[in-house]
Amino acid sequence: MFSQDQLKQQAAQAALDYVLPQLQPDSVLGVGTGSTVDRFIDLLAAHSGDFAAAVSSSERSTQRLQAAGIRVLDLNEVASLALYVDGADEVDHELNMVKGGGGALTREKIVASVADRFVCIVDDSKLVRQLGRFPLPVEVIPLAREAVARQIRSLGGQPRLREGFTTDNGNQILDVSGLTYDDPAEFEAVLNNIPGIVCCGLFAISGAHVALVAGQDGVSRLELQD
Ligand code: A5P
Repeated sequence: MFSQDQLKQQAAQAALDYVLPQLQPDSVLGVGTGSTVDRFIDLLAAHSGDFAAAVSSSERSTQRLQAAGIRVLDLNEVASLALYVDGADEVDHELNMVKGGGGALTREKIVASVADRFVCIVDDSKLVRQLGRFPLPVEVIPLAREAVARQIRSLGGQPRLREGFTTDNGNQILDVSGLTYDDPAEFEAVLNNIPGIVCCGLFAISGAHVALVAGQDGVSRLELQD
């Protein structure tokens, strides 16, 4: 029986195996944030000479990438990314995701938006039939926190401030429980329209292109047909 940590390691190894054949010496790779991605970065270290650089979605990942000998570029220096590799807190079979458990959701969504393909790496505890069990992280401008919280309550959610946490962008996070998403993309659009919300952790308008899901029987690949 593999532990969750071992499954994360297997997902990270599967991501490396998926990504390496696609990297060229001039490639720039998008790299997300979280404990699964930490393992991916550690594996990537041995291949730092095989590609040009990375763009990172957090200060945490930037530090780890640089410690691994990988050059990190500012997103403003990069016009396109072939691949973006990141974890998720929940992913469904349509490859919609909830992200932001680590608080890096805004930069994650921005970097992912520049990439041609989002490669989601998870252990199978994250694969769900319907999103909604994991409280939805919502990054808010601090002065709008209570105004946003009222709007979220009117949508049926129960927001809770993530105490003692400031995002890399200087904002706060509301973790919202009690939400159900019949149509995750539609709900993401509703949240995107609330003034004061910088970004919500639903990645459904643009989800993953492929998910590498590590379970007791090995790593399975979920991929939507184009
Ligand atoms: C970071 O903000 C998140 O979006 C992560 O991608 C997500 O929380 C998954 O993290 P773990 O790999 O640590 O579970």
